[in-house]
Amino acid sequence: MNQNEFKRRRKVLMQQMGPGNIALIASASSQVRNRDVEFPFRQDSDFYYLTGFDEADALAVFIPGREQGEYILFCQEFDAKKALWEGAHAGLEGAIADYAADDAFPIDDMGDILPGLLENKHKVYYPMGRDGELDHQILEWINFLRKQSRNGVNAPGELVSLEHILHEMRLFKSSAELNSMRKAAAVSCQAHVRAMKACQPGWYEYQVESEIIHECMQQGLRAVAYPSIVAGGKNACVLHYVENKDKLKKGDLLLIDAGVECDYYASDITRTFPVSGTFSPAQRKLYQLVLDAQYAAIAQIQPGIPWNKSHDVSVEVLTQGLVDLGLLQGEVSQLIQDEKYKQFYMHRIGHWLGMDVHDVGDYKVDDEWRILEPGMVLTVEPGLYIPQDCTAVDAQWRGIGIRIEDDVLVTQQGHEVLTQSLVKEIDDIENLMQVH
Ligand code: GLY
Ligand code: MN
Ligand code: MN
Repeated sequence: MNQNEFKRRRKVLMQQMGPGNIALIASASSQVRNRDVEFPFRQDSDFYYLTGFDEADALAVFIPGREQGEYILFCQEFDAKKALWEGAHAGLEGAIADYAADDAFPIDDMGDILPGLLENKHKVYYPMGRDGELDHQILEWINFLRKQSRNGVNAPGELVSLEHILHEMRLFKSSAELNSMRKAAAVSCQAHVRAMKACQPGWYEYQVESEIIHECMQQGLRAVAYPSIVAGGKNACVLHYVENKDKLKKGDLLLIDAGVECDYYASDITRTFPVSGTFSPAQRKLYQLVLDAQYAAIAQIQPGIPWNKSHDVSVEVLTQGLVDLGLLQGEVSQLIQDEKYKQFYMHRIGHWLGMDVHDVGDYKVDDEWRILEPGMVLTVEPGLYIPQDCTAVDAQWRGIGIRIEDDVLVTQQGHEVLTQSLVKEIDDIENLMQVH
Protein backbone atom coordinates (compact mmCIF):
# COMPACT_ATOMS: atom_id res chain seq x y z
CA MET A 1 0.00 0.00 0.00
CA ASN A 2 1.27 3.44 -0.95
CA GLN A 3 2.83 5.65 1.79
CA ASN A 4 0.36 8.40 0.80
CA GLU A 5 -2.47 6.27 2.15
CA PHE A 6 -0.83 6.11 5.60
CA LYS A 7 -0.11 9.85 5.46
CA ARG A 8 -3.75 10.56 4.69
CA ARG A 9 -4.87 8.48 7.68
CA ARG A 10 -2.47 10.25 10.04
CA LYS A 11 -3.77 13.59 8.79
CA VAL A 12 -7.40 12.60 9.41
CA LEU A 13 -6.53 11.31 12.88
CA MET A 14 -4.67 14.48 13.83
CA GLN A 15 -7.46 16.70 12.49
CA GLN A 16 -9.88 14.91 14.75
CA MET A 17 -7.56 15.03 17.78
CA GLY A 18 -6.99 18.76 17.48
CA PRO A 19 -3.88 20.77 18.48
CA GLY A 20 -2.48 20.68 22.02
CA ASN A 21 -3.04 16.95 22.33
CA ILE A 22 -0.92 13.82 21.81
CA ALA A 23 -1.55 10.22 20.74
CA LEU A 24 0.60 7.18 21.49
CA ILE A 25 0.33 3.73 19.99
CA ALA A 26 2.67 0.76 20.42
CA SER A 27 3.54 -1.95 17.90
CA ALA A 28 2.75 -5.59 18.57
CA SER A 29 5.43 -7.52 20.46
CA SER A 30 7.12 -10.59 19.08
CA GLN A 31 5.95 -13.75 20.85
CA VAL A 32 8.34 -16.53 21.83
CA ARG A 33 7.24 -20.00 20.75
CA ASN A 34 10.10 -21.67 22.57
CA ARG A 35 13.76 -20.80 23.18
CA ASP A 36 15.12 -19.12 20.03
CA VAL A 37 11.97 -19.59 17.97
CA GLU A 38 9.25 -16.97 17.64
CA PHE A 39 5.69 -17.19 16.33
CA PRO A 40 5.26 -15.49 12.94
CA PHE A 41 5.05 -11.75 13.65
CA ARG A 42 1.85 -9.93 12.76
CA GLN A 43 1.78 -6.18 13.35
CA ASP A 44 -0.98 -4.69 15.50
CA SER A 45 -3.73 -3.60 13.11
CA ASP A 46 -4.25 -0.12 14.60
CA PHE A 47 -0.50 0.55 14.61
CA TYR A 48 -0.12 -0.65 11.03
CA TYR A 49 -3.15 1.34 9.88
CA LEU A 50 -1.40 4.57 10.89
CA THR A 51 2.24 3.76 10.11
CA GLY A 52 2.58 0.92 7.56
CA PHE A 53 5.55 -0.09 9.77
CA ASP A 54 5.83 -3.83 10.30
CA GLU A 55 8.48 -4.20 13.00
CA ALA A 56 8.11 -5.06 16.69
CA ASP A 57 9.55 -2.83 19.45
CA ALA A 58 8.18 0.43 18.08
CA LEU A 59 6.00 3.25 19.38
CA ALA A 60 4.35 5.89 17.21
CA VAL A 61 3.61 9.37 18.60
CA PHE A 62 1.33 11.91 16.95
CA ILE A 63 1.37 15.56 18.03
CA PRO A 64 -0.88 17.73 15.82
CA GLY A 65 0.66 21.14 15.24
CA ARG A 66 4.16 20.29 16.58
CA GLU A 67 6.50 22.57 14.67
CA GLN A 68 9.45 20.17 14.49
CA GLY A 69 7.17 17.48 13.03
CA GLU A 70 3.89 15.86 14.01
CA TYR A 71 4.82 12.18 13.58
CA ILE A 72 7.56 10.65 15.73
CA LEU A 73 8.54 6.99 15.50
CA PHE A 74 10.50 5.22 18.21
CA CYS A 75 12.00 2.01 16.81
CA GLN A 76 14.96 -0.33 16.89
CA GLU A 77 18.26 1.16 15.76
CA PHE A 78 19.89 -0.49 12.78
CA ASP A 79 22.08 -3.37 14.01
CA ALA A 80 24.35 -5.18 11.54
CA LYS A 81 24.36 -8.37 13.60
CA LYS A 82 20.58 -8.42 13.78
CA ALA A 83 20.45 -7.81 10.02
CA LEU A 84 22.72 -10.84 9.51
CA TRP A 85 20.64 -13.20 11.67
CA GLU A 86 17.12 -11.91 11.22
CA GLY A 87 17.14 -9.74 8.12
CA ALA A 88 16.47 -6.17 7.13
CA HIS A 89 15.01 -3.60 9.49
CA ALA A 90 14.45 0.10 8.95
CA GLY A 91 16.54 1.70 11.68
CA LEU A 92 16.15 5.39 12.47
CA GLU A 93 17.14 6.52 8.98
CA GLY A 94 14.70 4.12 7.33
CA ALA A 95 11.92 5.27 9.66
CA ILE A 96 12.29 8.77 8.22
CA ALA A 97 13.23 7.94 4.62
CA ASP A 98 10.92 4.98 3.98
CA TYR A 99 8.08 5.48 6.47
CA ALA A 100 7.82 9.28 6.39
CA ALA A 101 8.35 9.84 10.12
CA ASP A 102 9.27 13.46 10.90
CA ASP A 103 11.58 12.35 13.72
CA ALA A 104 12.87 8.94 14.77
CA PHE A 105 14.45 7.92 18.07
CA PRO A 106 15.76 4.62 19.50
CA ILE A 107 13.03 2.72 21.33
CA ASP A 108 15.41 2.39 24.29
CA ASP A 109 15.35 6.19 24.74
CA MET A 110 11.57 6.33 24.94
CA GLY A 111 11.49 6.74 28.74
CA ASP A 112 13.80 9.78 28.57
CA ILE A 113 12.05 11.55 25.71
CA LEU A 114 8.35 10.85 26.25
CA PRO A 115 7.80 12.99 29.37
CA GLY A 116 9.07 16.02 27.43
CA LEU A 117 6.60 15.31 24.62
CA LEU A 118 3.72 14.93 27.08
CA GLU A 119 4.54 18.23 28.79
CA ASN A 120 1.75 20.83 28.57
CA LYS A 121 -0.48 18.60 26.44
CA HIS A 122 -4.17 18.45 27.37
CA LYS A 123 -5.34 15.03 26.24
CA VAL A 124 -3.41 11.79 25.79
CA TYR A 125 -5.05 9.49 23.25
CA TYR A 126 -3.95 5.85 23.46
CA PRO A 127 -5.44 2.34 23.21
CA MET A 128 -6.54 2.07 26.82
CA GLY A 129 -6.11 -1.22 28.60
CA ARG A 130 -4.68 -3.09 25.64
CA ASP A 131 -1.03 -3.07 26.59
CA GLY A 132 -0.60 -3.17 30.37
CA GLU A 133 3.00 -2.03 30.16
CA LEU A 134 2.17 1.06 28.09
CA ASP A 135 -0.81 1.89 30.36
CA HIS A 136 1.50 1.78 33.34
CA GLN A 137 4.26 3.81 31.70
CA ILE A 138 1.93 6.58 30.61
CA LEU A 139 0.70 6.99 34.20
CA GLU A 140 4.28 7.03 35.46
CA TRP A 141 5.27 9.73 32.97
CA ILE A 142 2.23 11.79 33.92
CA ASN A 143 3.05 11.47 37.62
CA PHE A 144 6.61 12.52 36.87
CA LEU A 145 5.30 15.69 35.18
CA ARG A 146 2.86 16.42 38.02
CA LYS A 147 5.75 16.60 40.44
CA GLN A 148 7.22 19.41 38.35
CA SER A 149 4.16 21.61 38.46
CA ARG A 150 5.98 24.25 40.55
CA ASN A 151 8.42 24.68 37.65
CA GLY A 152 5.49 25.67 35.45
CA VAL A 153 5.08 22.27 33.81
CA ASN A 154 1.53 21.08 33.22
CA ALA A 155 0.75 17.39 33.07
CA PRO A 156 -2.00 16.16 30.71
CA GLY A 157 -5.36 16.16 32.45
CA GLU A 158 -7.32 13.74 30.26
CA LEU A 159 -6.70 10.21 29.08
CA VAL A 160 -8.84 9.38 26.05
CA SER A 161 -9.43 6.12 24.20
CA LEU A 162 -7.71 6.34 20.80
CA GLU A 163 -9.95 3.57 19.47
CA HIS A 164 -12.96 5.82 19.50
CA ILE A 165 -11.56 7.91 16.62
CA LEU A 166 -9.44 5.23 14.99
CA HIS A 167 -12.01 2.45 14.78
CA GLU A 168 -14.57 4.77 13.27
CA MET A 169 -11.98 5.59 10.59
CA ARG A 170 -11.23 1.90 10.01
CA LEU A 171 -14.93 1.09 9.57
CA PHE A 172 -15.06 3.05 6.29
CA LYS A 173 -12.81 1.58 3.62
CA SER A 174 -10.92 3.77 1.15
CA SER A 175 -10.39 2.72 -2.47
CA ALA A 176 -6.84 1.59 -1.62
CA GLU A 177 -8.23 -0.61 1.16
CA LEU A 178 -10.91 -1.98 -1.14
CA ASN A 179 -8.28 -2.93 -3.71
CA SER A 180 -6.58 -5.09 -1.10
CA MET A 181 -9.88 -6.54 0.08
CA ARG A 182 -10.87 -7.38 -3.51
CA LYS A 183 -7.56 -9.17 -4.04
CA ALA A 184 -7.92 -11.11 -0.77
CA ALA A 185 -11.47 -12.06 -1.77
CA ALA A 186 -10.50 -13.12 -5.31
CA VAL A 187 -7.65 -15.35 -4.18
CA SER A 188 -9.77 -16.88 -1.41
CA CYS A 189 -12.48 -17.70 -3.96
CA GLN A 190 -9.90 -19.52 -6.08
CA ALA A 191 -8.61 -21.36 -3.01
CA HIS A 192 -12.15 -22.59 -2.24
CA VAL A 193 -12.58 -23.79 -5.83
CA ARG A 194 -9.29 -25.67 -5.62
CA ALA A 195 -10.42 -27.32 -2.36
CA MET A 196 -13.79 -28.31 -3.86
CA LYS A 197 -12.14 -29.86 -6.89
CA ALA A 198 -9.56 -31.75 -4.84
CA CYS A 199 -11.86 -33.03 -2.10
CA GLN A 200 -12.55 -36.78 -2.10
CA PRO A 201 -13.89 -39.39 0.32
CA GLY A 202 -11.10 -40.91 2.42
CA TRP A 203 -9.07 -37.70 2.53
CA TYR A 204 -8.43 -36.11 5.91
CA GLU A 205 -9.76 -32.63 6.63
CA TYR A 206 -6.19 -31.28 6.88
CA GLN A 207 -5.45 -32.47 3.36
CA VAL A 208 -8.23 -30.24 2.07
CA GLU A 209 -6.86 -27.42 4.26
CA SER A 210 -3.51 -27.83 2.52
CA GLU A 211 -5.20 -27.11 -0.84
CA ILE A 212 -6.42 -23.76 0.52
CA ILE A 213 -2.96 -22.84 1.78
CA HIS A 214 -1.37 -24.03 -1.47
CA GLU A 215 -3.51 -21.77 -3.65
CA CYS A 216 -3.01 -18.72 -1.43
CA MET A 217 0.76 -19.12 -1.30
CA GLN A 218 1.03 -19.81 -5.03
CA GLN A 219 -0.71 -16.49 -5.56
CA GLY A 220 1.75 -14.67 -3.33
CA LEU A 221 -0.44 -14.26 -0.25
CA ARG A 222 1.42 -15.78 2.66
CA ALA A 223 -1.02 -15.81 5.56
CA VAL A 224 -4.59 -16.88 6.12
CA ALA A 225 -6.67 -14.28 7.94
CA TYR A 226 -7.69 -16.77 10.68
CA PRO A 227 -7.25 -20.52 11.26
CA SER A 228 -9.20 -22.34 8.53
CA ILE A 229 -12.23 -24.36 9.59
CA VAL A 230 -12.41 -27.58 7.54
CA ALA A 231 -15.21 -29.58 9.10
CA GLY A 232 -16.65 -32.78 7.65
CA GLY A 233 -20.05 -34.19 8.70
CA LYS A 234 -21.05 -33.45 12.27
CA ASN A 235 -17.82 -31.51 12.92
CA ALA A 236 -19.52 -28.66 11.05
CA CYS A 237 -21.86 -28.28 14.04
CA VAL A 238 -18.87 -27.11 16.14
CA LEU A 239 -18.84 -23.46 15.10
CA HIS A 240 -15.11 -22.81 15.51
CA TYR A 241 -13.83 -26.32 14.74
CA VAL A 242 -10.15 -25.92 13.76
CA GLU A 243 -8.74 -29.36 14.60
CA ASN A 244 -9.24 -30.39 10.95
CA LYS A 245 -8.09 -33.91 11.73
CA ASP A 246 -10.89 -36.33 10.76
CA LYS A 247 -11.36 -38.54 7.73
CA LEU A 248 -14.00 -37.42 5.21
CA LYS A 249 -16.90 -39.79 4.59
CA LYS A 250 -18.71 -40.30 1.30
CA GLY A 251 -22.22 -39.22 2.28
CA ASP A 252 -21.17 -36.23 4.41
CA LEU A 253 -21.03 -32.52 3.72
CA LEU A 254 -17.81 -30.57 4.17
CA LEU A 255 -17.92 -27.03 5.58
CA ILE A 256 -14.89 -24.86 4.80
CA ASP A 257 -14.60 -21.43 6.43
CA ALA A 258 -11.33 -19.97 5.18
CA GLY A 259 -9.97 -16.67 3.90
CA VAL A 260 -6.59 -15.20 3.11
CA GLU A 261 -5.07 -11.89 4.13
CA CYS A 262 -3.76 -9.39 1.56
CA ASP A 263 -1.79 -6.29 2.68
CA TYR A 264 -3.24 -6.81 6.18
CA TYR A 265 -6.84 -7.05 4.90
CA ALA A 266 -8.94 -10.15 5.52
CA SER A 267 -11.42 -12.11 3.52
CA ASP A 268 -13.81 -14.50 5.24
CA ILE A 269 -15.66 -17.09 3.14
CA THR A 270 -17.65 -20.21 3.96
CA ARG A 271 -18.88 -22.82 1.55
CA THR A 272 -20.50 -26.16 2.34
CA PHE A 273 -20.51 -28.94 -0.26
CA PRO A 274 -20.86 -32.73 -0.49
CA VAL A 275 -17.65 -34.75 -0.04
CA SER A 276 -18.71 -37.03 -2.90
CA GLY A 277 -19.89 -34.21 -5.17
CA THR A 278 -23.65 -34.93 -4.89
CA PHE A 279 -26.08 -33.62 -2.23
CA SER A 280 -28.44 -36.13 -0.58
CA PRO A 281 -32.15 -35.13 -0.58
CA ALA A 282 -32.04 -34.00 3.07
CA GLN A 283 -28.77 -32.07 2.59
CA ARG A 284 -30.19 -30.47 -0.53
CA LYS A 285 -33.30 -29.18 1.29
CA LEU A 286 -31.39 -27.73 4.24
CA TYR A 287 -28.73 -26.23 1.98
CA GLN A 288 -31.29 -24.52 -0.23
CA LEU A 289 -32.93 -23.07 2.88
CA VAL A 290 -29.65 -21.55 4.11
CA LEU A 291 -28.96 -20.21 0.63
CA ASP A 292 -32.42 -18.61 0.43
CA ALA A 293 -31.83 -17.01 3.82
CA GLN A 294 -28.47 -15.69 2.65
CA TYR A 295 -29.92 -14.14 -0.53
CA ALA A 296 -32.70 -12.52 1.49
CA ALA A 297 -30.18 -11.16 4.01
CA ILE A 298 -27.81 -9.81 1.33
CA ALA A 299 -30.75 -7.98 -0.27
CA GLN A 300 -30.98 -5.93 2.95
CA ILE A 301 -27.43 -4.63 2.64
CA GLN A 302 -27.83 -1.07 1.39
CA PRO A 303 -27.32 2.45 2.69
CA GLY A 304 -29.97 3.60 5.14
CA ILE A 305 -30.92 0.10 6.37
CA PRO A 306 -30.07 -0.74 10.01
CA TRP A 307 -27.37 -3.33 10.59
CA ASN A 308 -29.72 -5.80 12.34
CA LYS A 309 -32.26 -5.93 9.48
CA SER A 310 -30.35 -8.60 7.56
CA HIS A 311 -30.16 -10.72 10.69
CA ASP A 312 -33.88 -10.43 11.35
CA VAL A 313 -34.67 -11.37 7.75
CA SER A 314 -32.41 -14.44 7.98
CA VAL A 315 -34.24 -15.51 11.14
CA GLU A 316 -37.62 -15.18 9.38
CA VAL A 317 -36.58 -17.20 6.34
CA LEU A 318 -34.86 -19.92 8.37
CA THR A 319 -37.70 -20.29 10.87
CA GLN A 320 -40.33 -20.54 8.15
CA GLY A 321 -38.17 -23.12 6.35
CA LEU A 322 -37.59 -25.17 9.49
CA VAL A 323 -41.36 -25.31 10.00
CA ASP A 324 -41.94 -26.30 6.35
CA LEU A 325 -39.38 -29.12 6.65
CA GLY A 326 -40.81 -30.30 9.98
CA LEU A 327 -37.81 -29.45 12.18
CA LEU A 328 -39.84 -26.93 14.17
CA GLN A 329 -43.53 -27.11 15.00
CA GLY A 330 -45.75 -24.11 15.66
CA GLU A 331 -46.59 -20.67 14.47
CA VAL A 332 -43.64 -18.87 12.84
CA SER A 333 -43.98 -15.51 14.61
CA GLN A 334 -44.34 -17.22 17.99
CA LEU A 335 -41.33 -19.45 17.29
CA ILE A 336 -39.30 -16.33 16.44
CA GLN A 337 -40.48 -14.56 19.58
CA ASP A 338 -39.51 -17.59 21.67
CA GLU A 339 -36.17 -17.80 19.82
CA LYS A 340 -36.76 -21.49 19.02
CA TYR A 341 -34.57 -21.14 15.92
CA LYS A 342 -31.56 -20.59 18.20
CA GLN A 343 -31.11 -24.31 18.77
CA PHE A 344 -30.20 -24.57 15.06
CA TYR A 345 -29.03 -21.00 14.25
CA MET A 346 -27.19 -19.72 17.29
CA HIS A 347 -24.93 -16.99 15.87
CA ARG A 348 -25.67 -13.64 14.28
CA ILE A 349 -25.74 -12.94 10.55
CA GLY A 350 -22.21 -11.54 10.36
CA HIS A 351 -19.69 -8.91 11.42
CA TRP A 352 -17.61 -6.00 10.10
CA LEU A 353 -14.67 -7.12 7.99
CA GLY A 354 -11.36 -5.33 7.43
CA MET A 355 -7.86 -5.60 8.84
CA ASP A 356 -9.22 -7.94 11.50
CA VAL A 357 -11.57 -10.71 10.47
CA HIS A 358 -13.99 -9.63 13.20
CA ASP A 359 -13.23 -6.02 12.48
CA VAL A 360 -13.49 -2.94 14.66
CA GLY A 361 -16.38 -0.48 14.63
CA ASP A 362 -19.47 -0.02 16.77
CA TYR A 363 -22.60 -2.01 15.89
CA LYS A 364 -24.80 0.31 17.89
CA VAL A 365 -24.76 4.10 18.13
CA ASP A 366 -26.66 5.71 21.04
CA ASP A 367 -28.20 2.32 21.77
CA GLU A 368 -29.68 2.04 18.25
CA TRP A 369 -28.48 -0.45 15.65
CA ARG A 370 -26.12 1.26 13.26
CA ILE A 371 -27.41 2.44 9.87
CA LEU A 372 -25.40 1.03 6.94
CA GLU A 373 -23.35 3.55 4.95
CA PRO A 374 -21.25 3.28 1.77
CA GLY A 375 -17.70 2.05 2.43
CA MET A 376 -18.59 -0.39 5.19
CA VAL A 377 -17.70 -4.04 4.56
CA LEU A 378 -19.42 -6.89 6.36
CA THR A 379 -19.99 -10.62 6.14
CA VAL A 380 -23.36 -12.28 5.55
CA GLU A 381 -23.21 -15.81 6.91
CA PRO A 382 -26.40 -17.57 7.96
CA GLY A 383 -26.16 -21.21 8.95
CA LEU A 384 -28.04 -24.21 10.27
CA TYR A 385 -26.48 -26.74 12.61
CA ILE A 386 -28.49 -29.82 13.57
CA PRO A 387 -26.72 -31.64 16.41
CA GLN A 388 -26.08 -35.36 15.96
CA ASP A 389 -27.92 -36.13 19.22
CA CYS A 390 -30.99 -34.00 18.45
CA THR A 391 -33.68 -36.64 18.87
CA ALA A 392 -36.40 -33.99 18.53
CA VAL A 393 -35.91 -34.02 14.74
CA ASP A 394 -36.12 -36.81 12.18
CA ALA A 395 -32.88 -38.84 11.86
CA GLN A 396 -32.25 -37.67 8.29
CA TRP A 397 -31.42 -34.13 9.50
CA ARG A 398 -29.05 -35.01 12.32
CA GLY A 399 -25.35 -34.20 12.20
CA ILE A 400 -25.70 -31.73 9.33
CA GLY A 401 -23.98 -28.34 9.63
CA ILE A 402 -24.27 -25.76 6.83
CA ARG A 403 -23.03 -22.17 6.60
CA ILE A 404 -22.72 -19.96 3.52
CA GLU A 405 -20.65 -16.80 3.97
CA ASP A 406 -19.83 -13.95 1.61
CA ASP A 407 -18.12 -10.58 2.02
CA VAL A 408 -20.27 -7.59 1.10
CA LEU A 409 -19.39 -3.94 0.52
CA VAL A 410 -22.06 -1.29 1.07
CA THR A 411 -22.08 0.98 -2.00
CA GLN A 412 -23.94 4.20 -2.89
CA GLN A 413 -26.47 2.18 -4.90
CA GLY A 414 -26.78 -0.86 -2.63
CA HIS A 415 -24.06 -3.42 -2.29
CA GLU A 416 -21.31 -5.34 -4.04
CA VAL A 417 -20.58 -8.96 -3.11
CA LEU A 418 -16.78 -9.09 -3.10
CA THR A 419 -16.82 -12.89 -3.15
CA GLN A 420 -19.42 -13.15 -5.92
CA SER A 421 -17.25 -15.31 -8.18
CA LEU A 422 -17.36 -18.36 -5.88
CA VAL A 423 -20.14 -20.87 -6.73
CA LYS A 424 -22.88 -21.54 -4.19
CA GLU A 425 -25.93 -22.73 -6.16
CA ILE A 426 -26.46 -26.49 -5.73
CA ASP A 427 -26.22 -27.24 -9.47
CA ASP A 428 -23.09 -25.15 -9.88
CA ILE A 429 -21.36 -26.91 -6.99
CA GLU A 430 -22.30 -30.35 -8.29
CA ASN A 431 -21.19 -29.48 -11.80
CA LEU A 432 -17.88 -28.09 -10.61
CA MET A 433 -17.16 -31.19 -8.56
CA GLN A 434 -18.24 -33.66 -11.24
CA VAL A 435 -16.10 -32.23 -13.99
CA HIS A 436 -13.04 -33.11 -11.94
N1 GLY B 1 -14.32 -17.14 10.24
C1 GLY B 1 -14.93 -16.64 11.39
C2 GLY B 1 -16.26 -16.12 11.09
O1 GLY B 1 -16.85 -16.45 10.09
O2 GLY B 1 -16.77 -15.31 11.81
MN1 MN C 1 -15.95 -17.23 8.39
MN1 MN D 1 -17.33 -14.45 9.41
